[in-house]
Amino acid sequence: MNAGRPTDGGAVRVALLGCGTVGSEIVRLLREQAAEFAARAGAPVELAGVAVRRPHKHPELGDLLTTDAHALVTRPDVDVVVEVIGGIEPARTLLLEALKAGKSVVTANKALLAEDGAALAEAADSSGADLFYEASVAGAIPLLRPLRESLAGDRITRVAGIVNGTTNFILSAMTESGSSYGDALEEATRLGYAEADPSADVDGYDAASKAAILASLAFHTRVTAADVHCEGIRHVSAADIAAAAGIGCVIKLLAICERTPGDSGAPESVSARVYPAMIPAAHPLAGVDGAFNAVFVEAEAAGQLMFYGQGAGGAPTASAVLGDVVAVARNLVGGGRGPRESAYASLPVLPIGAVATRYHVSLEVADRAGVLAAIAGEFARHGVSIAAVRQSGGNGGAEPRPADAAPGSARLVVVTHAAPESALAATVAVLAGHDAVRAVDSVLRVEDLGRKGVAP
Ligand code: HSE
Repeated sequence: MNAGRPTDGGAVRVALLGCGTVGSEIVRLLREQAAEFAARAGAPVELAGVAVRRPHKHPELGDLLTTDAHALVTRPDVDVVVEVIGGIEPARTLLLEALKAGKSVVTANKALLAEDGAALAEAADSSGADLFYEASVAGAIPLLRPLRESLAGDRITRVAGIVNGTTNFILSAMTESGSSYGDALEEATRLGYAEADPSADVDGYDAASKAAILASLAFHTRVTAADVHCEGIRHVSAADIAAAAGIGCVIKLLAICERTPGDSGAPESVSARVYPAMIPAAHPLAGVDGAFNAVFVEAEAAGQLMFYGQGAGGAPTASAVLGDVVAVARNLVGGGRGPRESAYASLPVLPIGAVATRYHVSLEVADRAGVLAAIAGEFARHGVSIAAVRQSGGNGGAEPRPADAAPGSARLVVVTHAAPESALAATVAVLAGHDAVRAVDSVLRVEDLGRKGVAP
C-alpha cells in the first residue's frame, strides 16, 4: 500500500489503461527499472492498477488487473492515469473523469487530442492537473516538449515532417525497388508495418491528427483534425516516383504546419496539411527511409532543427510515455505543475484553396502544332506561373515515346512556381476537359521546404 502522498515521500501511483504492445512495455520498464524511476522522480513510481478488456491474457499482472476502468481512474490511491487504449471513446470519458478527479494524465492518443484536446486541456486547467502527450506524435522522438518548452522563447514558422512510419516504409520501398504501391503495401503488411486495414495510415488520417497537435503547439492556436487538409498515398504510382527522380526529388508523405505572414490587410494565418509531395533529394527529410519518422522545425531565432527516430513500436512509444510519467511524478513530489499548452494566438487556419505550393503536372497530350501554347495559356489564364516544361515522345520529340503513350501523343510535364491550390485545381479541371489533353496522369505538389535550388 501507498505509504502516503508523493509530497510526503509516498509513491506516485499509476493507473494504466490498456496493456497491448505499448502498455506491456510500460509495465516491463516500470518493473525492471523501478529503482531508477524512484531516483529520477524523487519517489517510487508504482502501478496501482491496469484496466484491460481481457484479463486472462495478462496472468502476470495478477491483482493489478481490472475490467472496470471507470472505477480505476477515480480511485483515491491513483495519482496518474496513463492511457494507451487509443480511439475517441471510451478514452475521452475516462480521461475527463480522471482529470476532474484531479489525476494527472499521460496519453498517447493522437486521435482524441486532435479531435477534442481543448476539452482535456480545460479539464486539466480546472483541476490543476498535468496533461502530457509526448508519445502521441512521432513515438520516441522528443518533439512536443521541445516545441512547448525549449522553443517557448522563439517564433516557430514551420514544422514539416514524416510522422507516419507505415507510409514512409511504403514510399521508401517504391523508391528503392521501383515497385507499385500495391506491391509495396503488401510487403509492409507482410512485415507487420501496415495493419490489416491500412486506411488510417495510407489515407493520411494518422498523420493529420499529428499535424493538428503539432500546429496547435507550434503556433499557440487550437488546430483540430478537421482543420487539416488530408490526402493519402494510394494514388502515388511508380511513374510518379520515377518522375520525381527525374527532377532530383523523392516523394514523401508530409505533415506541414506553416505560419503565413499577413499582408495587404490579410491577417497572419496558419495552415496544416498532409499530402504526398516531391521534395529535393538533398533535403535531410529525403534521406529518412523505412519506418522512421523525422520532423524539421524552423524558428525565427533558432533557424532549422531536425528531430529523427522511431515513430512507433512498443518500447519506443513506452519511452515517450514514461518520460511524461517521470515529469508528472516530479511535479507531484515537488508540489507544482508542468508547463501547459497555450492557445492565446488564435490564428485563423487557411483553407487549402489558399495554400500556395509548387506543382508537378503530368499530361498526355495530342502531339500537334499549337498544343503547348494552348496548355500554357490555360495555366496563364488561371494565374499559375510555369517554372519549367518538358516534353517527351511525340512525332518530332528528341526523346523516345513513353511505352504507354498512344500514337500521336506526347507526355508533357509542367512544373509550376508556387500557386494557390484553388488556381491549380481550376487549371487542371479545364485541362482534363481540353480537346488536346488525352489524360491528366498525375498532379503532385513540389515542396522545397525552405531549401533553394529545387530542380528544375
Ligand atoms: N501507425 C503509425 C505509423 C504509428 O505508421 O507511424 C502510430 O501513430
